[in-house]
Amino acid sequence: MMKTVLVIGGGGREHAIVDALSRSPQVGKIYCAPGNAGIAELAECVPLKELQIAELKEFAIAHEVDLTVVGPEVPLSAGIADEFRAAGLRIFGPSAAAARIEASKDFAKALMARHNIPTAAYRTFSDFDAAWEYVRKGKFPVVLKYDGLAAGKGVVIPETPAEAEQALKDMLLDECFGKGKVVVEEFLTGPEFSFMCFVDGLVVTPMVLSQDHKRAFEGDKGPNTGGMGAYSPVPIIPQEDIDFALEHILKPVAAAMVAEGCPFQGVLYGGLMKTADGPKVIEFNCRFGDPETEVVLPRLLTDIYDVFSAVADGTPMPELSWSPEVTMGFVMASKGYPGSYQKGFPISLPGVAAGAVRVYHMGTKCEEGVLKTAGGRVLMVVGTGKTLQEAHDLALETVRNVQCDNLFYRSDIGWRVL
Ligand code: AMP
Ligand code: GLY
Repeated sequence: MMKTVLVIGGGGREHAIVDALSRSPQVGKIYCAPGNAGIAELAECVPLKELQIAELKEFAIAHEVDLTVVGPEVPLSAGIADEFRAAGLRIFGPSAAAARIEASKDFAKALMARHNIPTAAYRTFSDFDAAWEYVRKGKFPVVLKYDGLAAGKGVVIPETPAEAEQALKDMLLDECFGKGKVVVEEFLTGPEFSFMCFVDGLVVTPMVLSQDHKRAFEGDKGPNTGGMGAYSPVPIIPQEDIDFALEHILKPVAAAMVAEGCPFQGVLYGGLMKTADGPKVIEFNCRFGDPETEVVLPRLLTDIYDVFSAVADGTPMPELSWSPEVTMGFVMASKGYPGSYQKGFPISLPGVAAGAVRVYHMGTKCEEGVLKTAGGRVLMVVGTGKTLQEAHDLALETVRNVQCDNLFYRSDIGWRVL
């Protein structure tokens, strides 16, 4: 019997997940809620939003969905996996309790402190005066992180006391992200890399590394974004650092979560930094990264339905095998992103060589047959090649041939390795 799968989310990450599922010989029908114009070519899009948990559950039952795969953190943190499991439905994604590893910086930092996981020193504050007193007397730059989910915008790295005071006021007095605490962290330096692992309780199965580009503009300038481009693998991170990260970071964190009664099932994403003292944790996410997924999953040769099933059912994990071909992708975003931007601009896509270039949709919709921009990040163009340079050139050539009046991109993706 061919399997029916429901993917929740509507960005580039979900497009890459749907793309990987569509390569599985076991998977027949794929639904995606809400999906986007690109996903619609591979899956049937369902007009349900990620937080319509009761409706999504009813949909999965009514359409005899064999497995649901959750892309974004927000429904996970709201307990979608708990609700599906309670209804006897198979789902890939952590419980709300386990999703706290991303949803609460304070939870993640305290867990790391209890289990001696290498990360930046920190203190947590809920009172503005106490936070400001501590920051004013400390070193600069300093890192200020809102405790809760903030769509990648909750981290501020002030260079001066005045900037720090303003950021603390915004977060603790004006509650710009809602009522919550602030984590004040030591500033670390070094290249960052994304280490995503499939985790089922104590079983931690690593994926190949990738590297994101968080800043909006070339030369790593401008505001932090959700990510402007990525590539895989990351040759500047040696195997010994990957081994260290697996043995001293990812595996102990998975074990800590089991020991503390919130076992993790899903993708545990380590946002790590290679510091002079070895790899340290910058953040954890409770899901696949975006745009990292768009460069990692195209390299996965193992049937992803088997991988998701093993984690969802707690059965043995298949061994993962990876293509030696490498990937690099460029995000095309709406002008103004990550600030305010306009939507609805028509897009004309060039033809691409099948297999060598993939165009993942991050924020698009189709209106009366016309493809239009519908989000901050709009497209992710991924090239595949024998070398990162080849993947870069293939992707960039396609990017340059995308016609749309309101998009920008960073042409320096991969500068650390090319
Ligand atoms: P986060 O959302 O926690 O990943 O933070 C966003 C970005 O801020 C990271 O990708 C880093 O570039 C930067 N950042 C966060 N924490 C630190 C830190 N302790 N030291 C230096 N940079 C940091
Ligand atoms: N690319 C960073 C993230 O997915 O959070």
